[in-house]
Amino acid sequence: MGLSDDFPLTEEVVYLDSAATTLTPVSAGDAMKRFTEECGGNYGRGSHRLARDVTRRYENVREELSGFLGVEDHLVFTKNSTEALNACARGLPLDGAVVTTTLEHHSNLVPWMRHADELRLVEHRGGVLRPGDFEEVVDDDTALVTVTQVSNVYGSVQPVEDIGEIAHDHGALFLIDGAQSAGHLDVDVDEIGADLFAFSGHKGLLGPQGTGGLAMTEAVAAELEPLLLGGGGVHSVTPEGYGLEPAPQRFESGTPNLPGVIGLGASLDYLRDLGVKRARRISRRLGIEAGERLSGLDGVEVFRPENSTGVVSFSLDGWNPHDVASLLDRIGSVCVRSGHHCAIPALKGSAEEGTVRASFALYNDDDDLDTFLETVEKILSIT
Ligand code: ALA
Repeated sequence: MGLSDDFPLTEEVVYLDSAATTLTPVSAGDAMKRFTEECGGNYGRGSHRLARDVTRRYENVREELSGFLGVEDHLVFTKNSTEALNACARGLPLDGAVVTTTLEHHSNLVPWMRHADELRLVEHRGGVLRPGDFEEVVDDDTALVTVTQVSNVYGSVQPVEDIGEIAHDHGALFLIDGAQSAGHLDVDVDEIGADLFAFSGHKGLLGPQGTGGLAMTEAVAAELEPLLLGGGGVHSVTPEGYGLEPAPQRFESGTPNLPGVIGLGASLDYLRDLGVKRARRISRRLGIEAGERLSGLDGVEVFRPENSTGVVSFSLDGWNPHDVASLLDRIGSVCVRSGHHCAIPALKGSAEEGTVRASFALYNDDDDLDTFLETVEKILSIT
């Protein structure tokens, strides 16, 4: 079954840049349009019917998404996973070292460079993190361990349960960067044992840009200093000070992205109707086939560990990745990402000039795969 009615852009281009941002289903756009027509009033800030209605709709998405991701305690909306990760780096009272990895995209590395008292890095091996390497680095002086669940460069799925266990054995908090996993994998934050889980709304969850979130346990919520303070986040203010609202409201000062969250709710409905397992099957199969067929071409190097999602990074001998991406678009209307993918350390030692990255999603099909491969072959024939 083709999904082009739900994602009309797939009729115009071969969209293989879903790790950067996915296309959003028509139903989500419709929901946001209806929201602007039917809704007024602000979230949590009024007793009139419109404010009550909008608050109910927003909270409904929070509840649905919490159920979907297996969040037991709190889910806070942010504008993206970068904001969620920065909120952790700035606001967690960490008494000890932070352990992260060389596989992270910059959003789960640079904020820790700025805020951690001591930063320790676990090296990835060809896009894969080994729990044994964490055993070497995590100790009783570690306050937090944080890793990506799926690499945005390699698509590789990481053994987060095992890494989380090591963190907890040493009394450290465990934060997962789920930017590339939420909606792509069957994520259950509580079952994985993550204390914090940052995610993006506009990738695997198919939501609009400007949506994301941070899930956290009750214990973390009691300690985390909110990134922003202001209206909606406090219940009392005197000249002497202020009192914070309970979570999640204390972390959501200011008018939230109401249309975005409503759109995210509609995208979530769409994804649930289709099924995460089915979405994963489609993108993973295409990713595997793309990797195999690219590997069979002379002059192509593929960087795709075995357990990867629908992401394939590769390079063409003698070609700058940006030139390849540009030609893929010009010759075949194929949209991919090129360069360092906001993860420069992740490419060290393998493809320091960057790669071309094709990332498949549920709306791609075999025709897309063929067009992509044929266009790569055309580019190779230019040399
Ligand atoms: N981190 C996003 C990507 O991989 C933006 O493209």
